[in-house]
Amino acid sequence: MKIPHPLSESYSFPTIAPSILAADYTKLGEDISACTESGVKWIHCDIMDGHFVPNISYGSLIVNAARRAAPDAFLDVHLMIYNPDRYIADFAKAGANLISVHAEADPHIHRTLGAIKELGLYRGVAINPGTPLTAIEEVLPEVDLVCVMSVNPGFGGQKFIPSALQKIERLVKWRQQMGLNFLIEIDGGIGLANTENVAAAGTDVLVAGSSVFGAEDKNDQIQKLFQKAIIGSSNLT
Ligand code: DX5
Ligand code: ZN
Repeated sequence: MKIPHPLSESYSFPTIAPSILAADYTKLGEDISACTESGVKWIHCDIMDGHFVPNISYGSLIVNAARRAAPDAFLDVHLMIYNPDRYIADFAKAGANLISVHAEADPHIHRTLGAIKELGLYRGVAINPGTPLTAIEEVLPEVDLVCVMSVNPGFGGQKFIPSALQKIERLVKWRQQMGLNFLIEIDGGIGLANTENVAAAGTDVLVAGSSVFGAEDKNDQIQKLFQKAIIGSSNLT
């Protein structure tokens, strides 16, 4: 039996977390409202530093704009940056609820996760497609969420890497064997074609950027993604 994470009291999983990386920044507030009006509870923010990943996105000002556009949303902030410990207080102040840091970007990840908790936020650890799960094994008791990258981070709109599904399945087993309750998130290349399978593997949070913000009708697309995720997870215990 799955041990529920305390966040399950406020949110139902699986959930869809639109990544605003793919939003139109001339009307960010409108794009975010289109999500929340369609039943979205989690918003994913992608922070890229041009060093850890080969692209620069945005910083805490945009996270704060998202917070103001969606005062009640759960803001899931994914830091793809070196030295994340230097910036976590800024993102906390901007309105983040959860901060994920990359195992590959921080030699002192245990300490950083502790600092995120000290700030009163939920803690996440993210891993790249080429990083084995064993790289995060020791910190699993210290996290609320594991973000499994299903693309090489840095850009939206990339193709889903199927081996991420095996990582999800192994994490589900580990979680049970270790008696832990962290949430499992997948990030990259999620769309209507793979949502059902990804949810069926046991994923709790499905990040979707271009498939949400690139859709003609965002509301319809979000409804469809939610439906597929719920169908996929319906056979899980
Ligand atoms: C990739 C980011 C993802 C990305 C998802 O580096 O972490 O969150 O924005 O975008 P799509 O859904 O377009 O792959
Ligand atoms: Zn992300």
